[in-house]
Amino acid sequence: MAEGDIFGAEIGVPTPVSMMRQTLDGLAKRPDASPRALQGRHYVDQAYFAFEKQTVLQNGWHCVGRADELPNIGDYRALRLLEEPIILVRTENGIVALSNLCRHRGMPLAEGSGNTKLFVCSYHAWSYRINGTLQRAPRMENAGFDPKNCSLPSFACTERFGFIYVSLSETPPDLDQDLAGLHEGLQPYDPAAYRVVHSAEEIWNTNWKSLVENFMEGYHLSVVHPITLHGYTPTELSKKGPSGPGYTSYTAHYPDHIPPRGRGAEGLSEAQKHASYLFAVFPCQVVSISPSLLVSLNLMPVSAGRVDVRWTMSVYGDDLDGETIKDRIALWSEVNREDREKLERMQSALGSRHATGGPLAGPDYEGTVRDFLNWLARQDRLYL
Ligand code: FES
Ligand SMILES: [Fe+2]
Repeated sequence: MAEGDIFGAEIGVPTPVSMMRQTLDGLAKRPDASPRALQGRHYVDQAYFAFEKQTVLQNGWHCVGRADELPNIGDYRALRLLEEPIILVRTENGIVALSNLCRHRGMPLAEGSGNTKLFVCSYHAWSYRINGTLQRAPRMENAGFDPKNCSLPSFACTERFGFIYVSLSETPPDLDQDLAGLHEGLQPYDPAAYRVVHSAEEIWNTNWKSLVENFMEGYHLSVVHPITLHGYTPTELSKKGPSGPGYTSYTAHYPDHIPPRGRGAEGLSEAQKHASYLFAVFPCQVVSISPSLLVSLNLMPVSAGRVDVRWTMSVYGDDLDGETIKDRIALWSEVNREDREKLERMQSALGSRHATGGPLAGPDYEGTVRDFLNWLARQDRLYL
């Protein structure tokens, strides 16, 4: 497919993608009193997904896990982000994201996770240090061969709140500017101190945007999660939280009769102890934090109709005992299953010509969806 087809950039020739981009712009311009959802085809069209992949997804910061999952020098984990093979590895200078591709003829170097001093290629045994430099290339005696030119390339990688973020862009956005305001909201929780107790990988046959929208709206809580969540975080107690250039948030308050669930950090207010705070770091991370529990869904979009999800659960201090942690893992697994089942059903219908994007509820229930669509529209303008 020519680039002009994907970007809709050919002057005077409207393409499906260029027409879909106008829809986003139109939604962002709607009055606050009558927000609307995005049309279904934005969730099912593969050409539009290819456009998103080259723009908003390629450029964004993606959460790829928690820093305490790689506690020791040499700890690594292989992953794929938008088809890019990556090794996350802890070096003496912190966690880095290396290309997981041998500089000789392209064999992936690492699989799964572990601890190593060297990544040794399984094909012709070139070996690389954990900082990516080539240590040895057996029998490479050509005069023109220079090992210095064979280091593994790296990707932008940084940490915030104990999360590791990677961008595939050579000029990624300013993450602190994107998250301005979120730092203040999260700081009382002492988010970097939470430690991982569980991680899981799942395939969701839905569009990545549907998952972001679903996690970030409280409107569905009492309907989709009557047993698992309604008792703690009923829809009617959802309150819109702050948003910024690259995030949005809402607070899911607990009913008065529910006791606080764990003590958490010193600086938390009584109100914070009696609620869960949910936020999205656009494009692909959605998080729920409460005084003793931190759950992050890290989305890795694969196609218009598939997103690979890696989610982690972390706990604060020794607030929760082993049995309670087991219960929380079971609870969140069930909540995720309930959401996935709904989104997969919806995905199957969004290709309809009648999926025109209906009216959204007010700020406390779906204001975060509007924030996300506005963010997409703002990003989109960068690629005109
Ligand atoms: S492909 Fe890695 S050593 Fe040949
Ligand atoms: Fe849900």
